[in-house]
Amino acid sequence: MSRNRTLRLTTSHADLGRAADILGDGGLVAFPTETVYGLGADARNDTAVASIYAAKGRPSFNPLIVHVADIDAARALCVFDDTAERLAAVFWPGALTLVLPLRAQSGLSKLVTAGLDTVAVRMPDHPVGQALLRAFGGPVAAPSANPSGRISPTTAAHVLSGLDGMIDGVVDGGPCDTGLESTIVRCGDEPALLRAGGVPLEAIEACLGEALATQLHAQKPQAPGQLASHYAPQGRVRLDVTTPEQGETLLGFGSVEAALNLSPSGDLTEAAARLFDCLHQLDAMGAAAIAVSPIPDHGLGRAINDRLRRAAAPRD
Ligand code: TXA
Ligand code: MG
Repeated sequence: MSRNRTLRLTTSHADLGRAADILGDGGLVAFPTETVYGLGADARNDTAVASIYAAKGRPSFNPLIVHVADIDAARALCVFDDTAERLAAVFWPGALTLVLPLRAQSGLSKLVTAGLDTVAVRMPDHPVGQALLRAFGGPVAAPSANPSGRISPTTAAHVLSGLDGMIDGVVDGGPCDTGLESTIVRCGDEPALLRAGGVPLEAIEACLGEALATQLHAQKPQAPGQLASHYAPQGRVRLDVTTPEQGETLLGFGSVEAALNLSPSGDLTEAAARLFDCLHQLDAMGAAAIAVSPIPDHGLGRAINDRLRRAAAPRD
């Protein structure tokens, strides 16, 4: 398959039809969700899924999230328990991914689950993502549409800056509202948080009426955030900085003097939505040393801090 021209697609009915056709032909299309842009492929097509790993340069032990248009499409792929039913009823469509036992007849490529007997599924809450999933009419595997280890994309321009020429198309649906990947919860007898994300842990615990175990730093990576260095900009990153050193570019939060500010008013939702765009902007500015203001560690702040710690982790 030729990988040298990436189609720029609009959200028109005709362009979404083209995007669905590309998916049907085993191609790769990046599309907007409310969290970040996903790099989509037909989740039943081994070759298509393999080309996701190739385009991203992604380690193959990392399984992918499967996106569906509605809950019935999810039920065809995996078995919902009581926890999953309650969470889906409250948070779907939305920024919550559920890890559930795979059905024998799911038809999913084994590459999607990396051979696990569970699958991660979610129903995105974005009109364009939804329209594409319905036009395609099947499950779409979609990790974030960035080269592995780089910053996740929240605009079509971010997607093209990392993957232009490597993928068949990108649907430009404007900037993503949430700006952080989905929260990942493994269901079952002991539900566990695998990745902090767009739905705050507090909201999930309130829905279930119990505290969740967290497995954010398991030995064997089970979710992408579990790779130590991830979401990394080009420059070095130092966290919890109130006084930047000379030569450092400050990524601020709250009322501080800073080159870029995640949220001058100290609003965590705004900060989440702007986080990846600010990291992209720091790259564009050529910032070699980045200092980041302290971010409160509750609600969406938990996911923001998780991404920032990975951006600051030692690189291989
Ligand atoms: O917001 C999001 O979730 C975005 C948008 C595009 O939907 N997608 C996304 O996908 O972040 P990705 O591939 O970057 O992150 C999915 C992660 C995988 O890296 C994997 O570790 C975890 O979900 N995952 C997938 N299947 C799993 C499974 N069966 N068990 C545990 N974790 C799983
Ligand atoms: Mg990612």
